[in-house]
Amino acid sequence: MGLALLPFFLLLASTIEAQSLFDVTRYGAKPNTDITQALANAWKEACMSTTPSKLLIPKGVYQLSQSYLKGPCKSVPIQVQVDGTLKAPLHPNGDGLVLFAYIDQLMLSGTGVFDGQGKAGWDKNDCHKKKICTKLPMNLKFSFITNSIVKDITSLDSKNFHINLLGCKNVTFQHVTISAPENSPNTDGIHISSSEQINILDSKISTGDDCVSVGDSNKQVTITNVTCGPGHGISVGSLGKYTKEKDVVGVTVKACKLINTTNGVRIKTWPDSAGAFIASDMHFEDIEMQNVSNPVIIDQEYCPWNQCNRKVPSKIKISKVSFKNIRGTSATPIAVKLVCSKSIPCEGVEVADINLTYSGIRGPILSECANVQPLITGKQSPQICAKPAPAGAPSTD
Ligand SMILES: *[C@@H]1O[C@H](CO)[C@@H](O)[C@H](O)[C@H]1NC(C)=O
Ligand SMILES: *[C@@H]1O[C@H](CO)[C@@H](O)[C@H](O)[C@H]1NC(C)=O
Ligand SMILES: *[C@@H]1O[C@H](CO)[C@@H](O)[C@H](O)[C@H]1NC(C)=O
Ligand SMILES: *[C@@H]1O[C@H](CO)[C@@H](O)[C@H](O)[C@H]1NC(C)=O
Ligand SMILES: *[C@@H]1O[C@H](CO)[C@@H](O)[C@H](O)[C@H]1NC(C)=O
Repeated sequence: MGLALLPFFLLLASTIEAQSLFDVTRYGAKPNTDITQALANAWKEACMSTTPSKLLIPKGVYQLSQSYLKGPCKSVPIQVQVDGTLKAPLHPNGDGLVLFAYIDQLMLSGTGVFDGQGKAGWDKNDCHKKKICTKLPMNLKFSFITNSIVKDITSLDSKNFHINLLGCKNVTFQHVTISAPENSPNTDGIHISSSEQINILDSKISTGDDCVSVGDSNKQVTITNVTCGPGHGISVGSLGKYTKEKDVVGVTVKACKLINTTNGVRIKTWPDSAGAFIASDMHFEDIEMQNVSNPVIIDQEYCPWNQCNRKVPSKIKISKVSFKNIRGTSATPIAVKLVCSKSIPCEGVEVADINLTYSGIRGPILSECANVQPLITGKQSPQICAKPAPAGAPSTD
């Protein structure tokens, strides 16, 4: 091709790639007002655009009521850039602030904040204590989202879970910030269920419940370079509370840091579980603990607030689990606790290079186990499974 033609081709390429911009302020959104309708209108047009589109919420503080941003979209990919702060209503309304559903190649980014204004709802949140409870709205729900990326955004003070994934495939969260106080109930950072190929990277999660909870029916979940605390730590589960739950296979937690959390890395299943299924291929590696209360824990007698019959063992089979290179400080003497089901013991558990210390006054650092015979290698502080775990000991939630 002649050199003279090159600018023409570059121009052509850039027109083809051109992105249509849908700025909510062109749809009537103004700072300090409710932009729910403007967002709905901008979304409708962005989603129906036949060229790749970008919806923009620029800097500013806006009020927002439940917003359902639903696909499938003609615009693939579709970008949503939130640079503003979106404030949820004080009074609980609907089941989410922003709900994304049925979208392929969504890219949600920006320096913006999804503010659930949770203080106004936390006293009504009793779902951690009761099976039948008031469902409060989450900050962000992703349902049936595929091949997508969520980055840089912040979720603040959600009334319920901050971020919920359901039926998603190939979704990456990177550099997100989640923040709520230590005493905010049920404010899990990211809860994942019925999903596969989910990656959570380079993020910071401070909240009142689990940092990341990998619920039922998931495959290939990777959590890397996430800092958690305060909160209840990173967990697989709880599993077995409801019927219709399916296997969890393939969870990798790597290079994470837990600070001041009530658990570190945990697998939890309910006794007297509704279903019988497997939880397998779960690996926890290169984890740093700072003042964590139960740094390493498998709890198949998970029954907080006495919501179950502890006498019937869990029917969930746990296998192929490894805990490797875990170091730092424990806030309690029992630093490694592996309590498996009496009827279906854990299989293929590997524990290697555990270097934890406890400096409190409640005795030496310990590890207690039941119904598991792990393969142990490398450094052992505490000495792994040196003691049998007492039956019926209460769980932390
Ligand atoms: C996952 O999604 C990303 C982002 O859209 C995409 O680049 C990548 O090709 C997808 N991977 C697979 C295996 O589909
Ligand atoms: C880990 O995540 C933080 C952001 O939370 C980032 O600054 C840092 O570069 C990441 N580290 C690696 C090794 O990617
Ligand atoms: C851990 O919690 C204690 C007590 O609440 C607090 O003083 C300390 O600053 C926290 N540490 C970190 C690293 O956040
Ligand atoms: C460790 O955690 C405990 C309980 O969560 C807290 O009371 C204590 O202040 C923390 N200590 C430090 C040194 O952060
Ligand atoms: C264990 O941790 C302590 C204190 O953090 C450190 O001094 C020691 O070198 C570590 N030991 C091993 C074998 O890594």
